[in-house]
Amino acid sequence: MNRHLHPALLALPLFVSSPWAQTPATLRDAADAIGLNFGLATNSFQVGNASSAYAVAAAAQFNLAVCENEMKFESTENPIGKFNYSGGDAVYKFVSANKMKMRGHNFVWGGQSSSAQAAVHDRATGLRILKTHIDSVGGHFKTKILEWDVLNEITNDGGSGGLKNIFWKTNIGDDYADSALVFSRRAIGTNGYLYSNDYSADGVNAKSTSILNMATKWIQKGVPIDGIGFQCHLSTGINKADISANIKRFGDLGLRVSLTEIDIKQAKTADWTALMGACLENYNCVSFVTWGLTDASSWIGSTCGCLLYNGSTPAPKTDFINALIDAMAHADPTITAKRKAFIQRTPGTTALYARNAVFRTPSSGWLGAAAVPLYSNGAKGAVDILGRNQPVAPRSPWAAGLGILPQ
Ligand code: XIL
Repeated sequence: MNRHLHPALLALPLFVSSPWAQTPATLRDAADAIGLNFGLATNSFQVGNASSAYAVAAAAQFNLAVCENEMKFESTENPIGKFNYSGGDAVYKFVSANKMKMRGHNFVWGGQSSSAQAAVHDRATGLRILKTHIDSVGGHFKTKILEWDVLNEITNDGGSGGLKNIFWKTNIGDDYADSALVFSRRAIGTNGYLYSNDYSADGVNAKSTSILNMATKWIQKGVPIDGIGFQCHLSTGINKADISANIKRFGDLGLRVSLTEIDIKQAKTADWTALMGACLENYNCVSFVTWGLTDASSWIGSTCGCLLYNGSTPAPKTDFINALIDAMAHADPTITAKRKAFIQRTPGTTALYARNAVFRTPSSGWLGAAAVPLYSNGAKGAVDILGRNQPVAPRSPWAAGLGILPQ
């Protein structure tokens, strides 16, 4: 491990100090080759100066970025009705200059939403504020964002199931979540994939099972959902088989999985490769995103197991990085080919690909198998007073009514 590389070397292949040569030479190249988004959470102040060591490293090693804070509710709409896209725009400038992709984080959360929390008093104000926020922020960024965390940390902890008691739920009711997904599809069309993102649901456990059940219901009812985010705030001792099995069962529903906020307390190289291995084993694992690039810039500080040392003079942790490149370079070509096909799917088409028998009716094949996202067009007569579309087709006698009907 070489802690003393000059920052300029971060733009170069990281094997310059390694005795063994290897292709591909950067994390970004390795990820590109297997159809994987390899991302980092960042902030406009960190990438605003394109020639800083941090920005050079970020552009060289990653093909995706997400705003760590600047696209959250209280950053983009504060107070209610006053929109500010400057942070997201600045990060997007960096992203587009370096031909990277971008995640959007997030529309609906109990945290960092103080402006919404202060203004939402009841169901009517809640739905109006929710819709206006998604229309505005989603409308502004819709052509720039690949994956949206529409919903963040909404699931109850443990095995109790159901939705957490955050202000969106207590004011609007449980259908705030379905409504946010519908509003999002209408605001961004098929420009991006819609996600629900949660923590402590990385492996197979009661919480991830309750998310699976919720996703199943969404798909059955035609509520637009494309992917599930596992935040992956983890600690050393990562169980690859457990996380891999969890990713797979969401794939069986036709869903993408993104590992969205990876930090690994006291990480060892084996932890990084276990997590990457869990992703590589599954064609539906499409994004692998680190939350904080350097020890100095992580929200949990130097325990983060980040890929680089200090923020001011970043230096690569070559053991981690080389092992990750190696893992990606040796990914199973069959799975890679499936991933490359899978990522071509149009947002809004999850139900077409759900393999779980629950979507089969006795005689009529697939439920909800519309090639067009059910909520995308807003055809006359199919939109309620809040702009929430009704499903246009197909309805089957077996399909339950939607939980998002106008009240
Ligand atoms: C964290 C940021 O990293 C911090 O800078 C901020 O002070 C608090 O939020 N789950 C999430 C992220 O979805 O948005 C959080 O990010 C970390 C936990």
